[in-house]
Amino acid sequence: MSATRSVNFTGLDFANPFLLSSAPPTESESNILRAFEAGWAGVVTKTIGLHPVVNVVGAKAKFMRTTPEDAYVSMKKRPGAALHSSWNWELISDKTLDWWLPRIRRIKQAFPDRVLIASIMAGSGNDKELQNWQRLARDCQDAGADGLELNFSCPHMDRRDMGSNIGKDQGLCSVVTEAVKEVATVPVWCKLTPATAEIEVEAAACFRGGADAIVSSNTFPSIPLIDPDTLEFEINVDGLVSSGGLGGPAILPLSLAKMAQMTQALPGKSFSGIGGISDFPQALSYILLGCGTVQVCTAAMLDQAVGPNVIKRLLAGLDAFLERHAVDGWTGVESFRGLRRDRIVAQSEIRRPDAADYHSGYEVAEGYAPPQADRVGVDH
Ligand SMILES: Cc1cc2nc3c(=O)[nH]c(=O)nc-3n(C[C@H](O)[C@H](O)[C@H](O)COP(=O)(O)O)c2cc1C
Repeated sequence: MSATRSVNFTGLDFANPFLLSSAPPTESESNILRAFEAGWAGVVTKTIGLHPVVNVVGAKAKFMRTTPEDAYVSMKKRPGAALHSSWNWELISDKTLDWWLPRIRRIKQAFPDRVLIASIMAGSGNDKELQNWQRLARDCQDAGADGLELNFSCPHMDRRDMGSNIGKDQGLCSVVTEAVKEVATVPVWCKLTPATAEIEVEAAACFRGGADAIVSSNTFPSIPLIDPDTLEFEINVDGLVSSGGLGGPAILPLSLAKMAQMTQALPGKSFSGIGGISDFPQALSYILLGCGTVQVCTAAMLDQAVGPNVIKRLLAGLDAFLERHAVDGWTGVESFRGLRRDRIVAQSEIRRPDAADYHSGYEVAEGYAPPQADRVGVDH
């Protein structure tokens, strides 16, 4: 049987498992059309809301780089520096729902076989806000969106009932998902914030509300460095800064850890992985942990705004990987999805020179060995 790049994820057919995530690469019709021309199987639109959006003065996003000599991480351009991360304090789309709807329609007419997911966001404090979610959902799906991604993860919201503040509250995660599912005729994905201790708790709450998939990670809360000469934050307005979001290579291992927490706790569910992907090896890590699709932002921003070279590399990497594993009978992503999910275990389950020397952090009283069940993570 010959190998295929295509995947079915939450009932939607994708030509390959690679999507552009909700961010500047998907903020306009022209960008999304260029992305599809370049080969991305799907895009998630920049998040669409109903409240007025006004961004801060000046740059909304910058890139941090580091150099091998000093490992200093800075937004300043230095020769020989390599990408460390992106940092942004950009809000959701500053275009209105009415601006987006005809564009969703036209994009789907131009590319009926590609997947267009509408990212949406509203508040959650009262019934009117839940109705706002429903209006966004209905209007986007009526315009032709193939799916909805609920933004429970924007890290820059002052409102306690919006963005990542929803993703930090399992009750709100369930309630909002359920409200959208009441009206949705297309798959509903929830994009969670990584800024919680036990993300699998919020993920489970979304699934209880009827979610079809969980997407993670959005950017990690972070602040820019302070310039040692000027004593000013490297990005600021009138000397002031607020918490922003970190993306790119720096968050890859952090985001993988969050993803592993969820795929281990909820192995039968669907997950889309994001964070630090620029080439196939990084995408592969997410898939081996159980993800059915992956999404890209920072790497695409740095590659002609929509990542034509990134998608080329991802596809070439997938093709070469499948070819290498043809001898194993692997025919597509499903052949290796989740293959390393169960390799993450408690410390005490990792081999050491002499197993008898380590007692999971417990002291061993003379003449007493703690029963297996008392050991953290070895509860079986
Ligand atoms: C400038 C910028 C704007 C973003 N805007 C959104 C947004 O509107 N909605 C959303 O869900 N995620 C947004 N994100 C988060 C990205 O979709 C993505 O989750 C994150 O950057 C991590 O992926 P990466 O490491 O590939 O950049 C934004 C990221 C950046 C850098």
